[in-house]
Amino acid sequence: MIVEFFIFIITVVIAYGLYNYYDNHSYFKKHGINFMPGVPLFGNTLKSSLSLMNMIHELDEIYKAFPEDRYIGLVQMTARTIAIRDPELIKQVTVKDFDYFTDHRQIFSDPLFSESLFSMQGEKWRHMRSTLSPAFTGSKMRKMVPFMCQTSQNIVEHLKETEGQNINVGELIRRYTNDVIASTAFGIEVNSVKDQKNRFYEYGQKIINFSSVQKAKIFLSVIFPKSGFQIFPKDSLDFFKHIVTSTMEYREKNNVERPDMIQLLMEASKGTLDGPTEDKSDTVGFATTELTAVKPKGEVQKWSTDQLAAQAFIFFLAGFDSTASVLVMAFHELALNPKVQETLYQEVKEHHEKHGTVTYDGVPTLKYLDGVLNETLRKWPPTLILDRVCQKPYTLPPPREGGKPYTVKEGEVIFNFVNSLHMDEKYYPEPEKFKPERFSDENKQNIKLSAFIPFGSGPRSCIASRFAILELKVLLYYVSLNFILQKCEKTRDPIELTPGEFQVRCIGGSWVKFQARK
Ligand code: HEM
Ligand SMILES: *[C@@H]1O[C@H](CO)[C@@H](O)[C@H](O)[C@H]1NC(C)=O
Ligand SMILES: *[C@@H]1O[C@H](CO)[C@@H](O)[C@H](O)[C@H]1NC(C)=O
Repeated sequence: MIVEFFIFIITVVIAYGLYNYYDNHSYFKKHGINFMPGVPLFGNTLKSSLSLMNMIHELDEIYKAFPEDRYIGLVQMTARTIAIRDPELIKQVTVKDFDYFTDHRQIFSDPLFSESLFSMQGEKWRHMRSTLSPAFTGSKMRKMVPFMCQTSQNIVEHLKETEGQNINVGELIRRYTNDVIASTAFGIEVNSVKDQKNRFYEYGQKIINFSSVQKAKIFLSVIFPKSGFQIFPKDSLDFFKHIVTSTMEYREKNNVERPDMIQLLMEASKGTLDGPTEDKSDTVGFATTELTAVKPKGEVQKWSTDQLAAQAFIFFLAGFDSTASVLVMAFHELALNPKVQETLYQEVKEHHEKHGTVTYDGVPTLKYLDGVLNETLRKWPPTLILDRVCQKPYTLPPPREGGKPYTVKEGEVIFNFVNSLHMDEKYYPEPEKFKPERFSDENKQNIKLSAFIPFGSGPRSCIASRFAILELKVLLYYVSLNFILQKCEKTRDPIELTPGEFQVRCIGGSWVKFQARK
């Protein structure tokens, strides 16, 4: 009986796989859209599903296969998507025609995740986005820089104590980004470098350290988007929720104020957070979204504590590992490129001799540091998913000269390439080389800035990009001021990505030797 049942199930799965496979092919053919055949059930993502290749490279093979096409057919497992290769067309659908593509695909059902800004849809998203946006204006960011400096000092101290050792920087950096988020988002002062076993760090690790069961659930959720899997460990979710609610209660009762995101969420819940007025000293000048683009139609909405906890959770989830992986890659690249490091050091040293510290206003004057960071974000963007769901029928231009236009239907998913654009020699000559000079004022006209989208694009782009950039720059500043980063035997050169991970990580880790500067 059981055997027969299994045979039945396997037959159904195979039949579904084959049906889906041929259905997708005939669909793309009928509409004149190019595609790579892939395999039943795994589509174009077989090698990354089986951990044989990093997903970035697997997607890149498909991107490279059709150099003349604006968009192509891409099957993620069994899900059919239209993958856009042309930076101008990406801009068009994410900025100009944003109203047709406002939402991300709904994947996980964990309440803290599905109630977060990232997953919210339509009007509800507009409300929450405009509620939270004031939390990321210049005047708010200004107050957070001291937290970042303090946390950077902890890292510098630790590196001085362990000087001369070869260090796998991944873990150390995750302690930095963990502490920054703990402090700026949750109002918790932790020093994870000293206090290795603090609960905030441990629960955080648990959330991003996907087991094979969780990975399987993620793949299944892509195949069956309505399957309702909860993928995050319950105790970790409870922990974060508890922190948010108890901190809010405590502050409410004791009239405590602290310039962090909990405070901003509390103000938001009462509708007292000041509006989108940017202060004049807002000099960082990052491309953040025009607030008018997301302005909701209805009245100001009040949010429940649970909904606010979900936002604190997404700040943690979206902010902690992405920033860490960029920093790790920056240190790895600096160790491999001593000339770049020296130029950076000269700039930072000069600034430090003049000002004795780095402040919110000092950051934009560090041009080369900006180039180093952008070059890292170009080569190693932590962004795999840049999807949008179509809200109402939308006609794309023909995929290539002589092709016919294609109309995306409601509910269909489009996917924007990021990593492949950043590594396309058409936009960035010698893409494998780490050259911050690409972004210098003289050279800038030779690259295509619309093909640089590490934080996404349009009103739905990363809400915290300026926060992230500050956080990254502050640590880069202090570390390059105090240390020479050196290659050691374990440093992989060139950097190669670990297959079977969703995160951008070097095989065997990123090993660097830190030599203190005298
Ligand atoms: C280097 C660091 C980071 C990178 C590269 C990054 C990148 C991204 C990208 C690509 C998106 C999707 C954009 C799109 O679909 O167009 C996004 C969304 C988001 N990010 Fe970031 N991010 C970073 C750091 C952070 C940090 C530190 C936070 C929070 C403190 C954060 C919070 C969010 C949120 C809440 C969203 C969803 C926004 C919405 O749907 O309206 N991110 N991020
Ligand atoms: C991640 O999980 C694996 C097992 O699932 C465990 O062996 C490993 O120690 C964990 N790593 C961290 C950093 O928690
Ligand atoms: C670096 O990237 C940011 C966006 O992420 C952009 O605003 C800035 O102009 C870039 N810097 C240079 C020098 O191109």
